[in-house]
Amino acid sequence: MIANTIEDNRQRQCFEGVSSVWLFGYGSLIYKVDFPFLEQRAASIEGWARRFWQGSHDHRGTPQAPGRVVTLVEQPGARCRGMAYRVAPEVFTHLDEREKNGYLRFTTAMQFDDGTRCDGLVYIATADNSAFLGPADDLDIARQIDTAEGPSGPNRDYLLQLADALRSLGDDDHHVFTLETLLSWTPADA
Ligand code: BEZ
Repeated sequence: MIANTIEDNRQRQCFEGVSSVWLFGYGSLIYKVDFPFLEQRAASIEGWARRFWQGSHDHRGTPQAPGRVVTLVEQPGARCRGMAYRVAPEVFTHLDEREKNGYLRFTTAMQFDDGTRCDGLVYIATADNSAFLGPADDLDIARQIDTAEGPSGPNRDYLLQLADALRSLGDDDHHVFTLETLLSWTPADA
């Protein structure tokens, strides 16, 4: 089911008098940077794990055959590595539209690589949104990603681009790299 979080997000944070905001990216925001930013720094957030548990009906799949894209799930002790961008508040108008299928903006504590900390915003698709798919066997997730395709292109490209971007960041995300490996066993490559 397609969700639409644009209006919810518009009412979530007040940017009045604010000239810039840190945004933490852990998925497509790492490699598809189609927005202006003032500063960019590798960062991580604690207590959250990246998972291919969100359905994509508008970018990497269709309502009839949704793809799977990442969201964050709470996991004590986990650490999610990503890229932080300092952006003007206006940027959220574009990103709210781009990520409208179930993602809401939350405030998070981020840690930069030099150990300094800062609060920022992060888009998360929680389990109660109508496009949420939740956990499944890794092989089933890989098969779904292998076959899905939407207006933004094949779902497998999303996974492969994310895996490449995470390697460049020196990340070791077991979930993402396992799915990348399984993708090479699925029929499209056979
Ligand atoms: C991200 O890359 O942080 C992101 C992932 C999904 C939706 C919105 C943002």
